Amino acid sequence: MSTQPAAIPIERAEGLKIPRHIGVIMDGNGRWAKQRGLSRSDGHRAGVEAVRRIVKLAIDYQVECLTLFSFSAENWRRPPDEIKFIFGLLRRFVASDLDRLAEQNVKVRIIGVRDGLDSGLLGIIEEVERRTASNDGLDLLIAFNYGAKVEIARAARAIARKVALGELAPDAIDEALIEKHLDTFGVPDPDLILRTSGEMRLSNFLLWQSAYAELVFIDENWPDFDEAVFVKALKVYSLRDRRFGGVGS
Ligand code: IPE
Ligand code: IPE
Ligand code: MG
Repeated sequence: MSTQPAAIPIERAEGLKIPRHIGVIMDGNGRWAKQRGLSRSDGHRAGVEAVRRIVKLAIDYQVECLTLFSFSAENWRRPPDEIKFIFGLLRRFVASDLDRLAEQNVKVRIIGVRDGLDSGLLGIIEEVERRTASNDGLDLLIAFNYGAKVEIARAARAIARKVALGELAPDAIDEALIEKHLDTFGVPDPDLILRTSGEMRLSNFLLWQSAYAELVFIDENWPDFDEAVFVKALKVYSLRDRRFGGVGS
């Protein structure tokens, strides 16, 4: 069995509220590369290093769940070569990091649409999920070929099918039932959504689940994400008064 990771020393976490679930829109790889006279591929490669850093940080700071937006349903609009490179990166990431993720007690789940992905990639996705399925440390959700509207439409179809078959009464459709049909079933809604690179939009990421998430926008590009940036975001989050429609503290 895997060993529990050591928590961070208390002085580093003092005063910080730690979200149970953090969603991250990892944006700005292209701009990071452009500023350095590098190719967009170099930017994506550097972005993988930042993925490794945030996984380690999530474990150290005892975040329960981390969802990383790595390829959106809309990213198919990019040039074929860039798409191919990003897909290759996912393969290489799993190949190089799977042993470590398994050892770190991380449970990996890939969310998003699988139809249309090539069989090699599907095999890799299935392998990483299978190898880490019995882990009970960090829940790492990788949103790959993911779009929130597609996810919600798919849930609606699955529910409609059950109604049509007479297995479900329309009156039984409530929020909990819809949540059961979303890709994120089983993990709490994100408390915090981070987006790097200064853009202030959700770009079709976890639209249902982020109903009450705190949104924190970070100026740094994704490849520059490190512990200092992470702590800065947690400080902003810790000062937010989460009222959930009530009157607050
Ligand atoms: C994020 O960086 C990575 C993906 C969307 C796959 P971008 O590639 O969007 O970088 P910018 O926004 O062009 O700088
Ligand atoms: C959002 O970034 C998708 C991912 C980070 C995977 P984009 O760079 O694709 O978003 P837009 O197009 O600027 O909204
Ligand atoms: Mg972008």
